[in-house]
Amino acid sequence: MAQPDDPSDTGMRRGLTSYGDADFSLFLRKAFIKGAGYTDAALDRPVIGISDTGSGYNPCHGNMAQLIEAVQRGVMLAGGLPVKFPTISLHESFAHPTSMYLRNLMSIDTEEMIRAQPMDAVVLIGGCDKTVPAQLMGAASAGIPALQLVTGSMLTGSHRGETVGACTDCRRYWGRYRADQIDAQEIAAVNDQLVASVGTCSVMGTASTMACIVEALGIGVPGVASPPAVTAGRLRVAERSGAVAVQLARSRLTIDKILTAKAFENAMRVLLAIGGSTNAIVHLTAIAGRCGFDVDLAALDRLGRETPVLLDLKPSGAHYMEDFHAAGGMTTLLRELKPLLHLDALTVTGRTLGEELEAAAPPFHQTVVHTLARPLYREGGIAVLKGNLAPGGAIIKQSAADPKLMEHEGRAVVFEGAADLARRIDADDLDVHEGDVLVLKHIGPKGAPGMPEAGYIPIPRKLARAGVKDIVRISDGRMSGTAFGTIVLHVTPESAVGGPLAHVRSGDRIRLSVSRREISLLVPDAELARRAQERPVQPSSAERGYRKLFLQSVTQADQGVDFDFLRAPRTIGRVPKD
Ligand code: FES
Repeated sequence: MAQPDDPSDTGMRRGLTSYGDADFSLFLRKAFIKGAGYTDAALDRPVIGISDTGSGYNPCHGNMAQLIEAVQRGVMLAGGLPVKFPTISLHESFAHPTSMYLRNLMSIDTEEMIRAQPMDAVVLIGGCDKTVPAQLMGAASAGIPALQLVTGSMLTGSHRGETVGACTDCRRYWGRYRADQIDAQEIAAVNDQLVASVGTCSVMGTASTMACIVEALGIGVPGVASPPAVTAGRLRVAERSGAVAVQLARSRLTIDKILTAKAFENAMRVLLAIGGSTNAIVHLTAIAGRCGFDVDLAALDRLGRETPVLLDLKPSGAHYMEDFHAAGGMTTLLRELKPLLHLDALTVTGRTLGEELEAAAPPFHQTVVHTLARPLYREGGIAVLKGNLAPGGAIIKQSAADPKLMEHEGRAVVFEGAADLARRIDADDLDVHEGDVLVLKHIGPKGAPGMPEAGYIPIPRKLARAGVKDIVRISDGRMSGTAFGTIVLHVTPESAVGGPLAHVRSGDRIRLSVSRREISLLVPDAELARRAQERPVQPSSAERGYRKLFLQSVTQADQGVDFDFLRAPRTIGRVPKD
């Protein structure tokens, strides 16, 4: 007799709909799915769910149909039954007010659809920035065997003989247009070339960073990170993912066996060594939180001091994802990083990371991945800052910053929020000079809300015209992983909850010292306390719906901007370990 919710159940017997009679529930379920033409023989196979995040609003997932077909083929070849199901899809440019606001919603959708529907393992297909974190967060909470496939990077384009790709070049060309260095006709021509095919951004932005992290975590098949979206290689990775998912289902290798403390530490090493997106720290913190791990930012910073940047990709370097793929992809990088990795961490193949590297194709001469002996940048891409302006921490992508500004003291020019910034940043009478520090408030998790990527504050037009290329910028928001500049982000606690950032005023002095990991507001504590009393911060709230849930439940950047009730109920450790 079938029992309701028996964890040892497999296939169509898993998670029966509750009618009070489990055998009838199974009888009814089989009757309905047979309506789609399935036989009993098919329904006896291990069921592999495939999350379909294709959407007309998501060109980064524009190859979804082909990927699903290839995953289904892999599942069938390995003796499983593939069943695709839809979830929310998020694209950076089609998610108002910001995709980060919806990441947790997608994670809930993913978790609950995995829980609700019968599947023995799941292949998650994502790509665009927030989708992979959302899927891993949801799958980690659902707890069944899971495997991540990414859609792959887009191809690069060409503008007047120069290779261009989203989105480092989007910002570079837009900056030139703002500075009157190129005209409307040229910027329109560039617009046609930046995204040359479907797939995710072609530089080391958040999507590429998360793709590399997937491989470092061991939660995707070896080689999953780098094949471009429109290649045969990408489809072969998809087919293999389907076959490995059946293996996962048979061995019942649940996601907690893969997403271990060692796996997270490997992922952090890789994040630092690829000059990866600062956003990945927030996402890794959220995924780790679902598994019961707290992220220790101070320990992460220490990891950064001994993990050089090896990957020469924009925005920290010169190349694109397709070049990384031609250079051997993550195998080349992981092989070089071997002395710093936990090679005994298990992967979805059932073998360890070390065993997979041993089995990989031999190395060859290439110039995209540097050696540990001759790195691109001596320290890791990201440094963690502290000080009275960010008692809970802040971060800077030092590999994409101007070395001349890393030790800097300047006068604050404050913008009270995104609307204030938009209103005044290009005004000719804005009181701003080279050497000042731009401060943007109210773009944190609760402030905007959703912690938008507005931390890449544009250079004020009058300075851009005068040839200023970089300026220190500080906010409680995020920035795109594709952006470049001396930009301090994720200031915690954020201004919307009364963090010190809320009390900065134009004219205050601010000191940034990346070597000392310091971000300080040079204003006495007593004066800050007086300002806090004079202008207390009102908590953000909403009357109904998802916004209400978001504002009530969202955590700060150092806790992954996840909802507090979605974290694992118990903490089992800290990552990285000291
Ligand atoms: Fe989707 Fe860049 S917009 S990855």
